[in-house]
Amino acid sequence: MSDTSMQTLIVGAPSNGVQLVTLNRPEALNALNTQLLGELSAVLDAAEASDDVRAVVLTGSSRAFAAGADIKEMAERDLVGILNDPRQQHWQRITRFPKPVIAAVNGFCLGGGCELAMHADIIIAGEDARFGQPEINLGIMPGAGGTQRLLRAVGKSMAMQMVLTGDAISARQAQQSGLVSEITQPEFTVERALAVAASIARKAPLAVRLAKESVLKGMDTDLASGLRFERHAFTVLAGTADRNEGIAAFQEKRKPEFNGQ
Ligand code: HXC
Repeated sequence: MSDTSMQTLIVGAPSNGVQLVTLNRPEALNALNTQLLGELSAVLDAAEASDDVRAVVLTGSSRAFAAGADIKEMAERDLVGILNDPRQQHWQRITRFPKPVIAAVNGFCLGGGCELAMHADIIIAGEDARFGQPEINLGIMPGAGGTQRLLRAVGKSMAMQMVLTGDAISARQAQQSGLVSEITQPEFTVERALAVAASIARKAPLAVRLAKESVLKGMDTDLASGLRFERHAFTVLAGTADRNEGIAAFQEKRKPEFNGQ
C-alpha cells in the first residue's frame, strides 16, 4: 500500500506495526489549522481501529515540526468563536489516543506545535530543534496544555521561563530538562523514532496500552492512586495469553510471539 496524501498530512502505510504521519503545510511551517487537526483526528481514529498499527510516529519537516496554531486562522476568531472552536475536540481526540505516539522533532516546535509534541509519549529531537511557547508575544498564552504538560515535563522554573518570556530552548536544553528523551543528527531523527516505535510495536499490545495509561495516570494523580491503578493494570495483564507467551518464551530461550490477546 502506498502513502495516503491528505491535504495537510502525509500518512504512510503501516510498516513493522508503525505508522508514520508527516505534517505537511510547508507554506506555513506546519501551523496547526482546523483542517490539519481534523485530518490528524481522522488518522488517529483509523490507527486506533487498525491491528496493523501498534505505534505512531508524528513528524514535520526539517525546518519545522510545527510553528504553532495557525495565527491567520486565530485572527478570525472572536471569543464566541474560540468557545465553539472545533479544534478543542480534535485536541481531545489526540489526548485520548491509546497507542504509543513518538514525536520526531526537527526545527521549530513552537506554541501549539510544542503542545502537540507534548501530546506524544516520547519526543526524539534533532540537534537543531527549538522548543518554545511564544504565545505571550501575541498577548495570549498556551491553550492546548502548554502550561500543564510543560510544567510536568520540565518543572516549574523552566516552564515559567518559557511561558512568561516566550523564548525558545535548544534541543540540548530540552533534553537536559526532561522534555526530550533523545537527540539525534537532524537527518536521522525520523529514522531513530521509527526504530524506537518498531521496538515498542514488537511488545505485547495490551501491556503497552496499559503501561502507557499507567504512566499517564501518574501525571494527574497522587502517588497512592497511581500505584493502585498500576496494581490493577498489572493484575489485568496476568489474565492475558501474551503474558503466558512472554514468560514461556523466556523459559524456552526463544523470541515471544505476541498477538494482542
Ligand atoms: C500561521 C505561520 C505561523 C503560524 C509561521 N507562519 N508560523 N502562519 N501561523 N503559527 C508562516 C509565516 O507567516 C510565513 O508565511 C511562513 O510561515 C514562513 O514563516 P517566516 O516567519 O517567514 O519564517 P522565519 O522568518 O524563518 O521565522 C520562523 C518563525 C516565525 C520564528 C517560526 O514564523 C514565527 O515566529 N512564527 C510564529 C510562531 C508563534 O508565535 N507560534 C505560536 C502561535 S499561537 P508568509 O505567507 O507570511 O510568508 C499558538 C497558540 C496555541 O500556538 C493555542 C492552542 C489552543
